[in-house]
Amino acid sequence: MSNPSILILPGDGIGPEVMTEVKKVISWFGAKRDIQFDVSEDLVGGAAYDAHGTPLHDDTMARAQEVDAVLLGAVGGPKYDELDFSVKPERGLLRLRKEMDLFSNLRPAQCFDALADFSSLKKDVVAGLDIMIVRELTSGIYFGEPRGIFEEGNERVGINTQRYTESEIDRVARSAFELAMRRGKKLCSMEKANVMESGILWREVVTEVAKDYPEVALSHMYADAGAMQLCRWPKQFDVIVTDNLFGDLLSDAAAMLTGSLGMLPSASLGAPMANGRPKALYEPVHGSAPDIAGQGKANPIACILSFAMALRYSFDLGSEADRVEAAVETALANGARTADLLGEEGATPISTSEMGDVIVAALDASL
Ligand code: NAD
Ligand code: IPM
Ligand code: MN
Repeated sequence: MSNPSILILPGDGIGPEVMTEVKKVISWFGAKRDIQFDVSEDLVGGAAYDAHGTPLHDDTMARAQEVDAVLLGAVGGPKYDELDFSVKPERGLLRLRKEMDLFSNLRPAQCFDALADFSSLKKDVVAGLDIMIVRELTSGIYFGEPRGIFEEGNERVGINTQRYTESEIDRVARSAFELAMRRGKKLCSMEKANVMESGILWREVVTEVAKDYPEVALSHMYADAGAMQLCRWPKQFDVIVTDNLFGDLLSDAAAMLTGSLGMLPSASLGAPMANGRPKALYEPVHGSAPDIAGQGKANPIACILSFAMALRYSFDLGSEADRVEAAVETALANGARTADLLGEEGATPISTSEMGDVIVAALDASL
């Protein structure tokens, strides 16, 4: 049987920097655990635009559809600010999500003990935190029609449309209930049913799906109140399911519960392929961080933890995923800190590459 295949798309800014550290971890699995992957690499985002005049070449799109998992770094940057909207780096990522139909975006926020003091929230509030945000990723206001900037009378109007079908809500809700069944059996659905019809439908469909999961305690919250509760007492949550835009905002907010945006991984999953595994793309929640790109300052942990999610969700290697997560925990417990994990007048940070090395050393020590 051939090795499982991975397509690496490092992208822009700190994307290639953090991906270099993930490649060390992938090599470690080959050398020390005899777990081999068939790895190929290609361009996405601004890097693809520079080479091909498009943020995602059709050949890359086709390759992404064939592999067992895609690993993506980050896309975007000020260099591309003036580009036409249709070829902006972010369109490459959105095309991957849409054409691979990756409707269920898992964004876990876990507070490692070593960082409980570092979060901008009180230690009590975040210590031991382990929640999962499930963000709908292929519909909603990101993709709804009509959209655009139009002339209306003597001025312009910018339009985006929030649109959800019952089946789109149903499938992401089911993925969230399935996760809740394997976790704490608690699911909170967030929308704004008080002001949006799409929110009313969302609530109705999620309530209907709940009948198939009688063991899961379902609650509903308006997304604005949910944002407040995430900061007030996040440990009340187990799994949260929400739409594309609210999920984008809530997951960046949840990042700060863990200490840094540089800590948050994600898995974007679609329908099962012929081999029974879901179509999948793994990427950190953070972006290309232009303010620190090229300086060796980026925290590679979000990207390394995204690879751990690939081990768990695409390759049935849950215990190896645990091993990577434990290595990150060990590195942090031993005091390894990139700049984002230190206060203003903190100790000297280590570099991106040093953090990768410390995590690989912790993997070695786990054998
Ligand atoms: P960002 O996530 O790139 O950065 C926000 C802040 O967090 C910055 O101060 C940055 O230095 C810091 N940060 C982010 N990741 C870090 C890491 N790994 N280590 C240390 N610090 C880190 O968000 P932004 O500045 O709003 O966006 C920059 C560009 O990235 C934009 O073009 C945006 O569209 C794009 N973006 C891409 C993705 C993606 O590829 N999935 C996600 C978000 C933003
Ligand atoms: C994310 C990013 C993306 C989004 C952008 C870069 C398209 O913010 O993955 O969280 O808005 O979904
Ligand atoms: Mn985002």
